[in-house]
Amino acid sequence: MILVTGASGHLATAILEHLTQAGASATGATRNPVMNSHHWALDFDVPETISFQGVETLVLVSAGTEEDDVVITRHNNAITAAERDGVRHIIYTSLTDAGDHLGFALAHRWTERRLRDGKVEWTILRNGLYAELIGQLLTPRNGVISAPFGQRGVAAVARNDLAEAAAIIARNPEKHQGRTYNLVGDKIITGQDLADELGTEYRPGNLGELRQALDTAALLPFQPSMLLSIHSAASHGFLEGTDTDITDILGRAPLDALGIAVAAAGPTVLAGRTGATVQI
Ligand SMILES: NC(=O)c1ccc[n+]([C@@H]2O[C@H](COP(=O)([O-])OP(=O)(O)OC[C@H]3O[C@@H](n4cnc5c(N)ncnc54)[C@H](OP(=O)(O)O)[C@@H]3O)[C@@H](O)[C@H]2O)c1
Repeated sequence: MILVTGASGHLATAILEHLTQAGASATGATRNPVMNSHHWALDFDVPETISFQGVETLVLVSAGTEEDDVVITRHNNAITAAERDGVRHIIYTSLTDAGDHLGFALAHRWTERRLRDGKVEWTILRNGLYAELIGQLLTPRNGVISAPFGQRGVAAVARNDLAEAAAIIARNPEKHQGRTYNLVGDKIITGQDLADELGTEYRPGNLGELRQALDTAALLPFQPSMLLSIHSAASHGFLEGTDTDITDILGRAPLDALGIAVAAAGPTVLAGRTGATVQI
C-alpha cells in the first residue's frame, strides 16, 4: 500500500489523484481528515499520532514551511516511525539542486541526509519552484510587475508535473531506489516573459523595497527571509538550471510553465502572525 502524507495540501492531493487514476492502492494521511475521506489522521508534530503499519511505500511530502528546527523535527519523527513500522521505501519531495541558496533549503538537505543514513530504501525528488508560485510572486500591482526578480529567470515547473512524477515513482519504487532526481522545468521563465503575456509593464524593484513591504505585512518571523531568498536567488541567476529528469520520468515534455504562471498570477496569500491570512 502507498501512503501519501500532507493529503490536504496541493501537491499531495494531486499525487493521490494520479495514483487513483492509475488504479494504484493508495491513501492519504493528514492532520485534519474530513469525514468519509478515508484518509489517515497523523501529525508529524505529535509523534504518537504517527503510524505507518501496513505501508510499503511512503510518499513523504515535505511538511510545510516553518523554522528549520520545526521542519527537521517533523521529518525526523516521520522517518523514525517509518523505520519502526517496517516501511520499505520512502519517496521524499525535496528541493531542486539549484535551491541551496534558498532560506528553506537546509531542512530539505538535512532530511535527504537523514534518509541516506537511515534504514529504509529511498528516492529523493528535488522539486523545482512551482510555476504557480512564480506566477503569484510576479503578480502585477496597479498594472506593473515590480517584484525584484531582475532580468534572470527561473526553471519553474508545474506542480501537477511534480505530482505525476511522484505517482509514477511510487507505483514502481524499486526502479528508483537510491536515486535523486532534479525535477525542474526544461526552460526558464522571467519577469519580462510574464509581463509580455499579461500585457503589463515589468519594472523590477530591489530587495530593500521588498523587505520594507514585507515588514509592514503581519507575516510570521521566518516568512520575510524565505520570500526574500527566493527573489534574491532568482534575480541573481541561481534558479536558472534546467534539467531533463522530469521529461525522462513523465515520458513527455513538461507542461507549459509560463502559461501556468500567467494563469496563477494573483495575490500571494500566507497565514500570517495573527493566524489570519495576509496578502503580499
Ligand atoms: N517547490 C515549491 O515551489 C514549493 C512551494 C511551496 C511549498 N513547497 C513545499 O512542498 C510541500 C508541498 O507543497 P504544497 O503545494 O502541497 O503545499 P501546501 O498546499 O501548503 O501543503 C502544505 C503541506 O504541509 C503539510 N504539513 C504541514 N504541517 C504538517 C505536520 N505537522 N505534519 C504533517 N504534515 C504537515 C500539510 O499536511 P496536512 O494535510 O496535514 O495539512 C500540507 O500537505 C510544502 O509543504 C512545502 O514544504 C514547495
